[in-house]
Amino acid sequence: MTAHLLGIDGMTRADLEELLELTDTFAEVGRRPIPKVPALRGRTVATVFFENSTRTRMSFDTAARRLSADTIAFTAGGSSISKGESLRDTVEVVASYGVDALVVRHPMAGTAHRVADWTKASVVNAGDGCHEHPTQALLDCYTLREHCGALDGMRIAIVGDVRHSRVARSNVLAFTTLGAEVVLVAPATLLPTAVEGWPVTVAHELDPLLGDLDAVYLLRMQSERISEGLIPSIREYAADFGLSAERAARLPAGALILHPGPTNPGVEISAAAAADPRSVILDQVVHGVSVRMAVLFLLLGSGRNPADDDGGDR
Ligand code: NCD
Repeated sequence: MTAHLLGIDGMTRADLEELLELTDTFAEVGRRPIPKVPALRGRTVATVFFENSTRTRMSFDTAARRLSADTIAFTAGGSSISKGESLRDTVEVVASYGVDALVVRHPMAGTAHRVADWTKASVVNAGDGCHEHPTQALLDCYTLREHCGALDGMRIAIVGDVRHSRVARSNVLAFTTLGAEVVLVAPATLLPTAVEGWPVTVAHELDPLLGDLDAVYLLRMQSERISEGLIPSIREYAADFGLSAERAARLPAGALILHPGPTNPGVEISAAAAADPRSVILDQVVHGVSVRMAVLFLLLGSGRNPADDDGGDR
């Protein structure tokens, strides 16, 4: 059976820990003078993105190249999508170039699952609408683990537009599976309707929580997915929920500040808070490459030695 990574949903603590431990190996590769191993030589990884992306697409591409895989990229802009070509036809064309993995981002929830039914290649979900973004959650867990040792017992606030955030869905599952306590902080209009079923507590004010957090995770307002007026104004949202320098000053000394990027400075996080010494936003970006190397290696590299640097195609 072909292995896929479609979501954090269904992954056990052991699955997550296996991936995070393998990530250590690839983080070590990333620190070498030549950060490249031959682990996936001869394999081809395609990125298939129907939505904009800077970090996710570039880090999958970097990860695949550091594993010596060949890469091909499809982006919807400039493609035959504008001529009416369907998703299925597009996937079949890309798959016909002999790809071993398809890394898929699409605005519709469930797309990665559908693509997995249409191809023999491994499928990695790089974000499907408001549903899941599993590699973001994995890199966030890796970042927290690096700074705090383990997530067990951590109290993490996820703040902002939870309703439209695939990052929040995947992170709630990953953080709680690894033993953290999660509190979602948002106005009621930015919470998902089914939040009662989530393994979290909910708060509508950030200020009373600040002194008692081990990490605060800010979400971008997903304006591209919001058609109705869910907040009075961006200015009021920022005043109530934005992580300003004053709010950051009230976090415990060892608390971490995370954001998946891209940030909207002055909305969910101020430029000063993003530059706070406790901000690990750039660490998240760096770890994204190592985590995605681990994911691609687990899916495609069976039987090979992950860190072997003999004969790398340089
Ligand atoms: C996130 C995404 O695309 O879901 N970004 C990312 O992958 N780094 C979050 C966002 O766009 O707000």
